[in-house]
Amino acid sequence: MINDPVIKDDWHPVLRTDALPDGRLIGARLMDEDIVLWRTEGRVQAWQDLCIHRGTRLSLGEVRSSRLKCPYHGWEYNTEGYCVHIPAHPEQTPPAKARVRTYLAGEKYGLIWVSLGNPQKDIPSFPEEPDPGYRKVLAGPFGPVKASAPRIIENFLDVAHFPFVHAGSLGDESRPEIADYTVETGPDGVAANDIQIYQPDPYGTGVGDVVHYQYRVFRPFTAYLAKQTKLTRFSILFPITPVDEKTSVAWFYMALDRGYDLPDDEITRFHSSILAQDVPIVESQRPELLPLDLQAELHLRSDRTSISYRRWLSEIGLTFGTA
Ligand code: FES
Ligand SMILES: [Fe+2]
Repeated sequence: MINDPVIKDDWHPVLRTDALPDGRLIGARLMDEDIVLWRTEGRVQAWQDLCIHRGTRLSLGEVRSSRLKCPYHGWEYNTEGYCVHIPAHPEQTPPAKARVRTYLAGEKYGLIWVSLGNPQKDIPSFPEEPDPGYRKVLAGPFGPVKASAPRIIENFLDVAHFPFVHAGSLGDESRPEIADYTVETGPDGVAANDIQIYQPDPYGTGVGDVVHYQYRVFRPFTAYLAKQTKLTRFSILFPITPVDEKTSVAWFYMALDRGYDLPDDEITRFHSSILAQDVPIVESQRPELLPLDLQAELHLRSDRTSISYRRWLSEIGLTFGTA
């Protein structure tokens, strides 16, 4: 496992809640670690995907009577990860050492979140979550994307690329200027306020306007955007699953103050197409790991959110996905 306490002690989404019904199990990968997710009596379990007997993948096994049964010799583990039955020696009490490594798992926003360490904080909060005035939509998984998680978060925070990568939707090549804006960094992350962006069609009427973006970085790999136009408010929680240092999976959890009767697909289609435009860019970036030394790449005033993000990652001692 990757030894970076900053990211090990954090929460990461690994699977949609609806992909794991009761009595099922499924393998996933997080921070170079194979995990098995399974659900019994409604509760999700996240374990190392490895039987302690001969190292077989438990995700090839089955869930039976609230136990996880290894496919190789049928050892059965209870929900605490202890082996409670060895079929070859049914009379024998399994040794206390016969225990699978278990992790913390939780569910929020339609996602299963896992921590491989000892999290000091809860799963990140989404400010609009308690507000029933917002329609919520989960989109994802997107990927795997062959890029490091911090490169993808930084791309999300970068507005100067809109006129080029997202011409006609998020930006307009004839209006590429970025006005100054302020960024604050505290122990809880980065906050960029009132970024003004000209967008060619923010109301779907074919008429352009200046819209306002506000960014937050809640965790090294979870960012947030609130977009305000004259008519609408829209926000996104953007967590990235760090599969390994150079492979990631992206998710969008969105809140809209309209579109209550639109199908989920219609809402997610636009955002999927935007992300599809970003993927070749982030996959092409070299070095693949995000350089935290500010001398390593060139930085402009319009990059100040990225600069603050890199500085903050450095301050909190993140090493995973960075150089
Ligand atoms: S390897 Fe799992 S029971 Fe033998
Ligand atoms: Fe983009």
